[in-house]
Amino acid sequence: MSLSSIIKNIPKAELHLHIEGSLTPELMWRLAEKHSVSLPYQSVEEIEAAYNFKDLQSFLDIYYAGAGVLIDEDDFFALMWEYLSKCHQENIVHTEIMFDPQTHTERGIGFDVFMPGFLKAMQKAQDEFGISSFLIMSFLRHLPESAAFETLAAAEPYYEHIKAVGLDSSELGHPPSKFERVFKKAKQLGFKIVAHAGEEGPASYIWEALELLGVDRIDHGVRCQEDEKLMEYLKDKQIPLTVCPLSNLKLCVIDDMKQHNIVSLLEAGLLVTVNSDDPTYFGGFLNANFEALADALSISEETIKKLAVNSFKASFLSNADKDKHIDKVVAA
Ligand code: ADE
Ligand code: ZN
Repeated sequence: MSLSSIIKNIPKAELHLHIEGSLTPELMWRLAEKHSVSLPYQSVEEIEAAYNFKDLQSFLDIYYAGAGVLIDEDDFFALMWEYLSKCHQENIVHTEIMFDPQTHTERGIGFDVFMPGFLKAMQKAQDEFGISSFLIMSFLRHLPESAAFETLAAAEPYYEHIKAVGLDSSELGHPPSKFERVFKKAKQLGFKIVAHAGEEGPASYIWEALELLGVDRIDHGVRCQEDEKLMEYLKDKQIPLTVCPLSNLKLCVIDDMKQHNIVSLLEAGLLVTVNSDDPTYFGGFLNANFEALADALSISEETIKKLAVNSFKASFLSNADKDKHIDKVVAA
């Protein structure tokens, strides 16, 4: 079997995906027309052409503006359903999906609008495709900690539908320490904890995420190699890193996919996984990320299987469910 067929056919989990980052230019265009939202683009092609970023912030500016077309429950359903249908095509059998409530609440759109839309699509994907999914509520780190506390309180009617709490948006200048108290509260409430760290920010932000937020996983974390002690710690504790190769390339974290350190992290014994982050902005969904690695780095069938096994190991599924999926990867 070719490497491409293996990538396509192997069952996988995705653990780092922003649902707002899966908005296709076509859906953005359609919803802008539906709600008479004016976009700074004249066509779908112009939207696509605008997706050239020089760093994380230049992407975030466009990404938050794009999310402005999401207004009613049906829009959030359509967004989630399109992503989960893509999962079905790509043989993603489990996914842990981040959403940014503040991107919507700041526009006056509440949990009672987006949550029912998300949850209906997730139930439909479970029923029709057998895809399981969890939600990760992420706080925007460029906003104050008080806003994160307000968001945590506003989410209360939906706690049973939220598996984990995360931290995203502009990393530099907004270290995990800024959110120590709100994450302590989230942990007390029983949520799993994740945080973006070491994407653009330094290795010290990864330490803060571990020591001050008590994270179960690090999102990105590719700058961990700048600190040997940190590498040892991540290896010993098997703290997962949710790595996003095409994102790193598009946001200029690396200049060339050949420079990506995912294989060396794997060889150093770290629990790394492959993910798509914001697939419609970064040029591809999960399988395209695997393909890009296979094209640029010498990756064997065994490595691809290991990455797929890791995706389940690093998930928030029960041990029984992890084992069930891992057995299928091994048998594939
Ligand atoms: N929000 C969406 N994608 C992100 C990323 N790659 N880093 C930080 N915040 C994000
Ligand atoms: Zn991300």
